Amino acid sequence: MASVSAHPDVMEKLVSLAKRRGFIFQSSEIYGGTGSVWDYGPLGVELKKNVKDRWWHAMVRARDDIEGLDAAILMHPRVWEASGHVAGFTDPLIDCRNCKRRFRADDPAIKGTPGAPDAQCPVCGSKGTLSEPRLFNLMFKTFMGPVEESAAIVYLRPETAQGIFVNFLNVQQSTRQKVPFGIAQIGKAFRNEITPGNFIFRTREFEQMEMQFFVEPGTDEEHFEYWKAQRMEWHRSLGLAPDRLRYKPHEQLAHYARAAADIEFDFGGSLGYQEIEGIHNRSDFDLSRHQEYSGKKLEYFDQPRNRRYIPYVIETSVGADRTTLALLVNAYREEEVPGETEGRTVLGLAPSIAPIKAGVFPLVKKDGMPEMAERVANDLRRAFPIFYDDGGAIGRRYRRQDEVGTPFGITIDGQSTQDGTVTVRDRDTLQQVRVAAGQLRGYIAERIGPNE
Ligand code: GAP
Repeated sequence: MASVSAHPDVMEKLVSLAKRRGFIFQSSEIYGGTGSVWDYGPLGVELKKNVKDRWWHAMVRARDDIEGLDAAILMHPRVWEASGHVAGFTDPLIDCRNCKRRFRADDPAIKGTPGAPDAQCPVCGSKGTLSEPRLFNLMFKTFMGPVEESAAIVYLRPETAQGIFVNFLNVQQSTRQKVPFGIAQIGKAFRNEITPGNFIFRTREFEQMEMQFFVEPGTDEEHFEYWKAQRMEWHRSLGLAPDRLRYKPHEQLAHYARAAADIEFDFGGSLGYQEIEGIHNRSDFDLSRHQEYSGKKLEYFDQPRNRRYIPYVIETSVGADRTTLALLVNAYREEEVPGETEGRTVLGLAPSIAPIKAGVFPLVKKDGMPEMAERVANDLRRAFPIFYDDGGAIGRRYRRQDEVGTPFGITIDGQSTQDGTVTVRDRDTLQQVRVAAGQLRGYIAERIGPNE
């Protein structure tokens, strides 16, 4: 259980901002919503895409020892027997026979011993209606083909990792990679979470960014330490405050793990520090199990040493949605503006992560300003996501962009149509500089910096 954070709880404000400004909507909202499933709106999809692009760049494009993969969500059902998910991916649950609610067995709100007459339901308050804990598998089941029978059961994958394990030799042999090397993928995962919540922190459908690094047994500990450090550095590079990030070593290890550590982010309020990424030393558990269950050899042949072995795996596993939430929480601030009566809400996102890079505003809708502003916007749009806004007082237009994290506000004023310069306002310092319209693209690109 996380302790209460020194950072304020901004979740409720974020949920409202996210909806109002088109970052994130509740799924199927007009039907009353689907529990813990969320849709990304125009700004949210850009923000999450920037997160995924950054990860892909750092993990695949910028390295010659990691290959990309996009494995299917539906896999052979035996995969989940081999991985241990059919038998072990479970939570002990308690049902209330009166109100039909379900609780995790470790829910602190439950009073008494579930199954006993004195146990009390935390929702309806009735006594003696709570069942004994029963194991509940978190995988979503569906059927392959036209017949709904047990032989046709398939699962929506609860993690992307298994798609990588079963393709280990396909990728290694087709790319001629030598151990140590990695395989990375980004994709949807599904878990029938019992206590989902906290907005997009824990959802039933989410995206993972996972990388399995295949190493020679005996070298696994040094690779584990290397990846721990690399991944922490990546989170910092996105702009997450270093003092809100920490490692948390696992005290209890999963059945497959030799070592594991989480990277945690302080989400503020009572949520506090929570896992955003897991780094695991999975030993040769997964490949050995798939070898056993499929009957196909999954060994690596080390040619120079004429030696065959099943590699160990160091896994880095991070949620794209959870990272997006951490970035929003980290960026949200409300502040006074010197010399103004109205305060402002700002998303202080790093420019390279922000969904819109610049707002373009004609100061007034006359004297050639809208025409020039449109030319400027069209030119910039070829390079960056831009928002054109000619409605309302200029101060209001700035505020609207501050609230969604747009780092630059470009205003075309009376001087612009005379000398071809525009003003560029910095979201954080509020300082304005004049830049020649012809040099704007280069100027903004330099201020955004490389997307890596
Ligand atoms: N392959 C290992 C694995 O899946 P995990 O700790 O269960 O490990 C890794 O998940 C990451 O996936 C978590 O750190 C989190 O960022 C994300 N994640 C897991 N369950 C999630 C959920 N229900 N909603 C959103 N993100 C989730």
